[in-house]
Amino acid sequence: KPYIVVLAGGIGSKFWPYSRNNYPKQFLDILGTGRTLLQMTFDRFVKFSDPKLFLVVTNKMYVDIVKEQLPEISDEQILGEPLRRNTANCIAYASYKIKKKDPNARVIVTPSDHLVINELPFQQKIKQGLKEAEKAHHLITIGIKPNRPETGYGYIQYIEKPKLGLVKKVKTFTEKPTKKLAKTFLESGDFVWNSGMFIWKNESIIRAFEKYLPEMAEVFEEGMEFYDSPDEAGFIKRAYSLVKNVSIDLGIMEKSDEVYLLLGDFGWSDLGSWLSIHQLKERDKNNNVVDANAVLYDTTNSYIKVSPQKLVVVHGLDNYLINESENVILICKLDAENKFKEFVADAKNKG
Ligand code: GDD
Ligand code: MG
Repeated sequence: KPYIVVLAGGIGSKFWPYSRNNYPKQFLDILGTGRTLLQMTFDRFVKFSDPKLFLVVTNKMYVDIVKEQLPEISDEQILGEPLRRNTANCIAYASYKIKKKDPNARVIVTPSDHLVINELPFQQKIKQGLKEAEKAHHLITIGIKPNRPETGYGYIQYIEKPKLGLVKKVKTFTEKPTKKLAKTFLESGDFVWNSGMFIWKNESIIRAFEKYLPEMAEVFEEGMEFYDSPDEAGFIKRAYSLVKNVSIDLGIMEKSDEVYLLLGDFGWSDLGSWLSIHQLKERDKNNNVVDANAVLYDTTNSYIKVSPQKLVVVHGLDNYLINESENVILICKLDAENKFKEFVADAKNKG
């Protein structure tokens, strides 16, 4: 059974103010299903694995939230990071720790904040990926057919290689392109989105770290004597102060020629914006999502999420978001996702 490495250290700023620095998106029941996105991720992958084989990598400040939300796993399976150093580092940490436990392990890496709607095709794809990852030192990534020139994703260009079955070797990998480039990619038809899910033999990713991020590999290799010992936290604190901030996408996937692609078609969404949640939720006849005690007049295509203790009266809005949370009220265009970094930064300055 494979290890499941769950990346759960992001800060989810695009859902501010609902998602706060101290309580980001992966820990919220964003769809109102009764399970948070992290819990839904656990449910999705436990079918291929065992609760004992999960490693959740997250920031130190979220460790208690993970403990509370995933009582199925033990404290040693939660890897607390002292600093935010991006996904290559958290994958390296988990991979070297796994190397110590089982050098022959197979691993699935997954984000903690995505949605998969169609379980069955998803399971088939993962099973196929596990099989393909056995071959040589393939790094398998799951690609999704794009339907818009999204600039927040990685784009994978593939070349057909029939003898490899459904796995296509990757030609190029471009992380977060410009709008113009994204349009060209979409029109060409040779590109898919990187879903951020990866499947490989642990040995294969270790080799890739050694080749493409040798300094990082060296740092985490030195931890061999500390993993699963009382000195692990101290070692990790030193290690994280030495490594540079780099994502797995830029650090390895863009560079390696061992990357292979599986096309996934299972109703995937990275739930990256309020607009994407709006499209998934139940809407009234005017295309509004109302998660509040509200009275609406002439209001269309909007998302109103306000605590039920308050009555909200809205008139004449189209394509707006109203979100009230603790001490912030945000009113903006529903598709203003590119403004959120600015909102969060300026709000911080206001105190
Ligand atoms: N532990 C830990 N530490 N987790 C992290 C860190 C970190 O420093 N940074 C990010 N993560 C987690 C997030 O919580 C999320 O689950 C996952 O890693 C991906 O990080 P994001 O910050 O959400 O990346 P992104 O959405 O901008 O881009 C990635 O995902 C896209 C698909 O959603 C890339 O892989 C893109 O290529 C991809 O298309
Ligand atoms: Mg993301």
